[in-house]
Amino acid sequence: MINPDPSALEAFWMPFTANRQFKAKPRLLARAEGMHYWTSDGRQILDAVAGLWCVNAGHGRSEIADAVAKQLTTLDYAPTFQMGHPLAFELANRLIEITPKDFDHVFFVNSGSEAVDTALKIALAYHRVKGDASRQRLIGREKGYHGVGFGGISVGGMVNNRKFFGSLLPGVDHLRHTLDPEHNAFSRGVPEWGVHLAEDLERLVALHDASTIAAVIIEPVQGSAGVILPPKGYLQRIREICDRHGILLIFDEVITGFGRLGTPFGADYFEVTPDIITAAKGLTNGAIPMGAVFVRKPIYDAFMRGPESAIELFHGYTYSAHPAACAAAIEALNIYQRENLLTRAATLSRVWESAVHALRDSRLVIDIRNIGLVAGIELRSREGAPGARAYEVLTKAFEEGLLVRVTGDTIALSPPLIISEEQIEQITTKLAAILRTIA
Ligand SMILES: Cc1ncc(COP(=O)(O)O)c(C=O)c1O
Repeated sequence: MINPDPSALEAFWMPFTANRQFKAKPRLLARAEGMHYWTSDGRQILDAVAGLWCVNAGHGRSEIADAVAKQLTTLDYAPTFQMGHPLAFELANRLIEITPKDFDHVFFVNSGSEAVDTALKIALAYHRVKGDASRQRLIGREKGYHGVGFGGISVGGMVNNRKFFGSLLPGVDHLRHTLDPEHNAFSRGVPEWGVHLAEDLERLVALHDASTIAAVIIEPVQGSAGVILPPKGYLQRIREICDRHGILLIFDEVITGFGRLGTPFGADYFEVTPDIITAAKGLTNGAIPMGAVFVRKPIYDAFMRGPESAIELFHGYTYSAHPAACAAAIEALNIYQRENLLTRAATLSRVWESAVHALRDSRLVIDIRNIGLVAGIELRSREGAPGARAYEVLTKAFEEGLLVRVTGDTIALSPPLIISEEQIEQITTKLAAILRTIA
């Protein structure tokens, strides 16, 4: 489809997209390899967002493609309700080798949104099987993104993702977010100011009483709302408060899992151990949809009581542990381990930090936030047109061979973990040049 007839683009209702604007001037990706995409008219595009924060080992990994092809011709599909297939168990065992200590069980799903809904359901059911059924309340955070299921948007805190969809789940409350440019603008890594924001959880406990609260769910680093970092000590404090009140802590690691911060998981980076971790995206290097929920042993064990013939958790998806997804995930893990990608961001993070902070010279930039191989570059909004300036950066960048992501007026960067230092330089040099041309 080199110059598509506009009517050929009509049928696909595109997600999270201004459909009419896009279809009037489409951006079509036709091929990908390593750090690059190629458009349908043959232009090379440097991928500064790993697709959508998922292609951690770079594009077109033939090992993954070969493993999936082989799996589909060996065992294309197998149910995992009262049945099993070897790769599902192999993958679960491989994964718990790299998850933080104590995480020794995994429930498979097909996306980050499903991982979140699954984690919330496990948290509620856990308290119930423990005889603590009054713990039904879920706590999320303002500006949080936990996918688009009803559970995820209920605990999430991005207004546009919520306001169209009715009254959402009952019994949900939200912590304050931690974005505070007044105190923390241009912090390098986690900001020093703001640990006290964790005390907001004590406020909610005082309001609702701990006996009604099942779980707190937060992203260790908020990605989709524009790269918002936890202040130093904040996550530790949230953990302490959860412990004090018997509240489960869920880390949504759909973005931070699989090496994004320079450690296998965000929990490793921050040295804070939650009770449940959700993951997706990098799990299969983006090649096949898959998500996972990791739980610590006491949670799994709480369900493994009663008669052995009883189903312990009435939950699952037709495609939970799909054989092709398992094959992709095992091969992705092989690559991550062979190429040391789960820790590579740590070795690049200084170079990355200096390169992105050099964009501070632009008159439009009002904040830069970075950690691991992630950065958010926030632009001053145009009067009466929030988001317009960053969208213009996105379109210009694409015309000039660079794929970035924007949320509001924040440019988000999260390149594949195979990026070279020269390519980091290319991203920021190109962005600096584009910012000079933007009004
Ligand atoms: C933290 C977080 N949770 C959940 C999701 C939802 O994942 P999916 O789009 O695979 O449903 C995302 C997606 O960006 C995410 O960043």
